Amino acid sequence: MKKETKTTLRLDKYLADSGAGTRSEVKEMIRKSRVKVNGETEKKPERKICPEQDRVELDQIWIRPQPEFVYYLLNKPAGYVSATTDPAEKTVLELVPQTAKGLFPVGRLDKDTEGLLLITNDGMLAHRLLSPGKHVDKTYYVETERPLTPEEAAKLENGVDIGEKNPTLPARAELLPPEGTKGRLHLTIHEGKYHQVKRMVHAVGTEVTYLKRISMGSLALPENLPVGSFIELDPETIKPRPLQ
Ligand code: URA
Repeated sequence: MKKETKTTLRLDKYLADSGAGTRSEVKEMIRKSRVKVNGETEKKPERKICPEQDRVELDQIWIRPQPEFVYYLLNKPAGYVSATTDPAEKTVLELVPQTAKGLFPVGRLDKDTEGLLLITNDGMLAHRLLSPGKHVDKTYYVETERPLTPEEAAKLENGVDIGEKNPTLPARAELLPPEGTKGRLHLTIHEGKYHQVKRMVHAVGTEVTYLKRISMGSLALPENLPVGSFIELDPETIKPRPLQ
């Protein structure tokens, strides 16, 4: 969780993080009187600044604070819609701290679906995960009204007609031991059509009774993360990882 207090950091770090140069290069710039803080030349690299309040200039150019990205991995409960606002329903944004502007859910889980939902303000990451053609793997734990036969699982894998122009793309369906009269499986799909899993299961002759997303790209839902809880992911670890 982020603290409410305003963050301060060293001037040389601020400039280096903004892409002005390496830490030693920006130290040199500061020593050469090229840097001003609030209109005054600053010669100490260790000077503490508050990016939201202090105006830092390099060669008379204002170095604006970089937007701060946050990444919450939420175990979405049923009963919440995947939207930023809704006039009538509870939204997933109510489940994470509002410490940053512009938070939104990456993709959509149905109101009654549980599991992994990434909430961020990083539009580029969302684009990498969602844009057509990326085909990021999404794995769901699925319970069905009755167990599927191996032939039905094979149909899910090869592609089924869900009323779209084309059949669904190849998928992976791993049947799990049934529980009572219920069927259970892990289904991995590479697209994200509206109600896709429910429509695929319907296409082979039964219905989904419970749905939970357990992974998306390289992100997995931690097994011990309670429903309705989230963890904050470290930007340093999420950004360089290939998410497809
Ligand atoms: N497929 C569905 O049918 N629902 C979801 O929420 C996600 C995938």
